[in-house]
Amino acid sequence: MAEINEKKRNNRKQKRKQQDGEADKEGRNGNNREATKRSVETQAKSNPYKKIKKVFPYGNYRHYYGYRIGRDAEREEDPRIRVLKKEWFEGKDCLDIGCNSGIITIQIAKKYNCGSILGIDIDSGLVQEAIWHLRKFVKTESAEKKNTNGSNVKVVQDVNGSEECATKSSNEGSSNNPNHNSSGERNLSDIVSFREENFVWSQLPDKQYDTVLCLSVTKWIHLNWGDDGLITAFSKIWRLLRPGGVFVLEPQPWNSYEKNRKVSETTASNYHDIKYRPDSFREILLDKIGFRKVEDLTSELSGTKAGFDRPILAYYK
Ligand SMILES: C[S@@+](CC[C@H](N)C(=O)[O-])C[C@H]1O[C@@H](n2cnc3c(N)ncnc32)[C@H](O)[C@@H]1O
Repeated sequence: MAEINEKKRNNRKQKRKQQDGEADKEGRNGNNREATKRSVETQAKSNPYKKIKKVFPYGNYRHYYGYRIGRDAEREEDPRIRVLKKEWFEGKDCLDIGCNSGIITIQIAKKYNCGSILGIDIDSGLVQEAIWHLRKFVKTESAEKKNTNGSNVKVVQDVNGSEECATKSSNEGSSNNPNHNSSGERNLSDIVSFREENFVWSQLPDKQYDTVLCLSVTKWIHLNWGDDGLITAFSKIWRLLRPGGVFVLEPQPWNSYEKNRKVSETTASNYHDIKYRPDSFREILLDKIGFRKVEDLTSELSGTKAGFDRPILAYYK
């Protein structure tokens, strides 16, 4: 009897290995989204009662800002914003690579008055969420402005929890320009935009930028596309920047790669082949890619919230 049970257990193990292997093969071919879906389905089939563990192969976490900043992430300022310099953003064209649900992109646009800022993310669901966040910010902002302008507008919550203006502003419609609000200022929705894009594979646009942000993304590019993917991303950033432009980088440390290396077979295999560890990024960016100088802003972050202890560096073209 014990022998039969052992045999059954081995058969089940063998089957699971085979199914995992199929899912991972798809991942290696670059179709990670399909691999993730298959892996979740496999988990559900093998044990329908077991809680399914969601996999985020690109660091495409949901509620990322809730986890890093707190429940009120939409309103509370991301501590990293404080170390950024106004002159990198004010009136400038900016690009945020791996924007997730867009909260920091919108906060930067708002605080530093960007000329334009484009947030791109590989995950279409997160891009949709970012667009939704932008709409919400614009609505709240215009209601707040109308309130401070002495109008009789109040922000109320409808039954679905979304904010609506209860009454119309007295000066509404006074501006003829649809891109400007009633006081002649530009609307956030004309400054901020979001797009689904895999930065490693996408074609270079004609447009150039003054500032490129890449915050907590290099690990995911590195694990999914290896050293080649990372160098491709760095060279692309260099080409996208105007002379004098700034590349703001928040790299994850090498010890954090280990924790995530098993999110797919692709990441596990790339992890073993990685030669350029984060402590060599500085040399790569200055000597190989060609950035002029680097400024370390890390110390200015000390004493802020836990979870924001990663280095932040500004590389100048
Ligand atoms: C850990 S989150 C960081 C979010 C944000 N940059 C921040 O620091 O607040 C990493 C983000 O990078 C995105 N990402 C990973 N690889 C990418 C790629 N190749 N192209 C575009 N976005 C990518 C993920 O979907 C995820 O939203």
